Amino acid sequence: MIELQGKTVVISGGAEGIGLEIGLVLGRRGMNVVLADIDTQNLAAARDRMAAENIATLTVELDVALEEHWQKVARQTLERFGKVHMLVNNAGVGGAAGAIESYDSASWRWAIDVNLMGVVYGAQTFVPLIKQHGEGGWLLNVASMAGIGGVPYMAAYSATKNAVVALSEGWSTELEEHGVKVAVLCPGFVKTRIHQSHRNRQARYAVDKAPSKQQQKIADGAREAVQNGIDVELLGKRVMEALDGGEFYIFTHPSYRQLARQRAAAIDAAFERAAASPLLKDILEQEIGPF
Ligand SMILES: NC(=O)c1ccc[n+]([C@@H]2O[C@H](COP(=O)([O-])OP(=O)(O)OC[C@H]3O[C@@H](n4cnc5c(N)ncnc54)[C@H](O)[C@@H]3O)[C@@H](O)[C@H]2O)c1
Repeated sequence: MIELQGKTVVISGGAEGIGLEIGLVLGRRGMNVVLADIDTQNLAAARDRMAAENIATLTVELDVALEEHWQKVARQTLERFGKVHMLVNNAGVGGAAGAIESYDSASWRWAIDVNLMGVVYGAQTFVPLIKQHGEGGWLLNVASMAGIGGVPYMAAYSATKNAVVALSEGWSTELEEHGVKVAVLCPGFVKTRIHQSHRNRQARYAVDKAPSKQQQKIADGAREAVQNGIDVELLGKRVMEALDGGEFYIFTHPSYRQLARQRAAAIDAAFERAAASPLLKDILEQEIGPF
């Protein structure tokens, strides 16, 4: 088991759902927990929930898409707990759904700013603070199974979650020498309020168009799938197991393995065709670049 007692974790989107559950699980292992979220009402309720378990908790208002908010979270974290050892980049929104032409740019921006730039700003703010004390630490990014390939009619969500997987893969190598372990959580459906993400949509990303029939149908399907998802408590336990085991990709739905296999097989078959192409025979043995 990894030693977490007395260390500090910052969790974005920590007021409810997956973020709060990870906070509870890590708090039970002795971590100080900083819950940062755009929803201040739920933050207050989350603080009470943590207090009931005697977990040392700080709550801070944060819109992950605003870089300056992250600076405030860092200041308050250091003031209260002195150091930080783990960042959980968890805040995320389901975003819009629909066919290519039905996505408006405000919906694209919302998903990119929260799901992708929120992760980038979080890492840029906290990774230097974790490196600084030299005690090592962890960066856990919450992606999704939608980050392991492309999902039809969910372009913005899927694109941003694929980006989070890619960032995590690169950062994992970058941060190795600093003793910072990176992990990327890729859940399938979990019973939370992710299907009601619009409740957190900032006014600057507002659209005044009602969803089309197709968009409504996709949203209804997503709601049903989320409501039939796994319990968040099970996900929390699985995350703890995986962190203890030093896992990089953290999966929670073993049945989705076939999707990853199909993708890997399709890519491998495509390479096979490239290797057999007369056009490419002269560069068959060329050394690979810096991957
Ligand atoms: N629930 C699922 O089925 C599922 C599956 C795969 C991945 N995920 C991912 O898990 C993460 C957590 O989602 P969840 O299922 O707990 O959803 P949730 O909606 O229950 O919780 C999300 C939390 O993020 C907060 N949030 C939203 N926008 C924010 C912003 N701009 N700044 C700060 N906080 C913000 C919300 O207030 C809320 O507390 C997300 O990244 C989501 O994409 C969820």
